[in-house]
Amino acid sequence: MRKPILAANWKMNGNIALVKRFAEYTWYHQSIEIIWGLPSLYLSIASELGLSQLAGQDVSAHESGAHTGEISAKMLKELGCQYVIIGHSERRTDFGEQESLLIQKWQQLKKQELNPIYCIGESLQEYNESTTDMAIARQLESVIAANLIDEHTVIAYEPVWAIGTGNTATPDYAQAVHAKIRHILSDKYANIAPLIRILYGGSVKANNAKDLYHKDDIDGFLVGGASLECEEFQGIIEAIL
Ligand code: PGA
Repeated sequence: MRKPILAANWKMNGNIALVKRFAEYTWYHQSIEIIWGLPSLYLSIASELGLSQLAGQDVSAHESGAHTGEISAKMLKELGCQYVIIGHSERRTDFGEQESLLIQKWQQLKKQELNPIYCIGESLQEYNESTTDMAIARQLESVIAANLIDEHTVIAYEPVWAIGTGNTATPDYAQAVHAKIRHILSDKYANIAPLIRILYGGSVKANNAKDLYHKDDIDGFLVGGASLECEEFQGIIEAIL
């Protein structure tokens, strides 16, 4: 039985007042892991205010040293993070991050026993050309070859064309890709593939979460826009419960 995850990804949004507003709600549910991927500057205050289960939105590929502006895995750990999002499509696009760099980031997470939320997904062009399976395989193969995956790994499948667009993947489409991901994982990790949580991300809202969540291989969500509104986020929780 895989415990569902609902992970908020605030991206570069929000402010301290919003962190405080979220902290006024009761978010704990025994049957769901709720994870707060807040801007790193807000992680301490979020933890002080009781928003537990924090995630960094990125991490440096280096352990420490002269890397101005970077944040290390050790620092995220010290602030109370258990998870770190890596490979988000916005980082892949805006900063040209590729698997070779993501492997180094993941290795830093491993050293600190932080769990990755590793994002993968096809571009609009790949979707239109029906090469989603190839895109997914390409993004998984190198991390599988680097022997990084374990039962604590979380994969977030986020079709790039669905992120922030309102064009959510249909439950059937998302399920087919999630099943493919689990199949690729099971080739090398037959024992742990059934335990790995695979989240869907891309315009998840309270009104579409239930149908997506009902699918066998969808183990929760990585949520951007809808994670910035308390009631909407609550609505997604209710869809999972
Ligand atoms: P969205 O973002 O929910 O706003 O589409 C999801 C994500 O980028 O993680």
